[in-house]
Amino acid sequence: MTQALQVPTCLPRHVAIVMDGNGRWASQRHLPRLAGHKKGVDALRRAVQASIDQGVSVLTVFAFSSENWSRPAAEVAGLMDLLSLVLNREVDALDSNGVRLHFPGDRAGLSERVVQGLAAAEARTAHNQRLVLNVCFNYGGRWDIANAARRLVAEGREITEQSLSEATALSHVGDPDLLIRTGGEMRISNFLLWQTAYTELFFSPCLWPDFDASEMACALKAYAERERRFGQIGEQVQQPVGPQYA
Ligand code: FPP
Repeated sequence: MTQALQVPTCLPRHVAIVMDGNGRWASQRHLPRLAGHKKGVDALRRAVQASIDQGVSVLTVFAFSSENWSRPAAEVAGLMDLLSLVLNREVDALDSNGVRLHFPGDRAGLSERVVQGLAAAEARTAHNQRLVLNVCFNYGGRWDIANAARRLVAEGREITEQSLSEATALSHVGDPDLLIRTGGEMRISNFLLWQTAYTELFFSPCLWPDFDASEMACALKAYAERERRFGQIGEQVQQPVGPQYA
């Protein structure tokens, strides 16, 4: 486990996470892959609390990708059951903790029961303001861009960078400042393709079930040390971007 780190001086407003490594965490312990996903829920709970404690405003996680349907049927069914379990068991605590839930993704592929559960959790937590938690489920970056374009065409609107951004599934929160990927792989895997144009990337070898507050602090510290230039040169960038600690 990483040692506790000093609080960074420049904080990302929006953090996105590819929660990778559940399967390997389970294999290392001779457990079924689903045991890793279940432990992943504990890690997600810790990430939510660490985000609140550190003052992050938006946390966006990749829970089930458009491509995950091609996993073994038992694993897909297990992940669907896990989502229902999370909806039944976690929403009370998240609501009390001031967390507003969103589930960006394609609902067309999901069962009626799951779709109703997602809508109910979103409605129930809609008044909360402490942290926005986007749990991307049946989400793909290419789906998001194509879906946004389809919506604009259906509405007879011009396709511009602005209108397309507004039509994407994450338009309610804006682009992530920091993307963390656990599990040691260094790729985006069809996550937030449109939204990560200028996002800072942080790759950690930590397997997702082991993720904790000190891993989050490590990523936030790395972010604080970056210079975000958005296409400008260093001399033009006067102020670090993002909210400051008092
Ligand atoms: C990727 O690890 C992880 C997933 C596909 C599932 C992520 C789900 C959770 C963290 C649990 C939270 C779930 C819900 C429904 C809120 P992997 O299985 O690809 O790991 P590997 O690369 O080690 O095989």
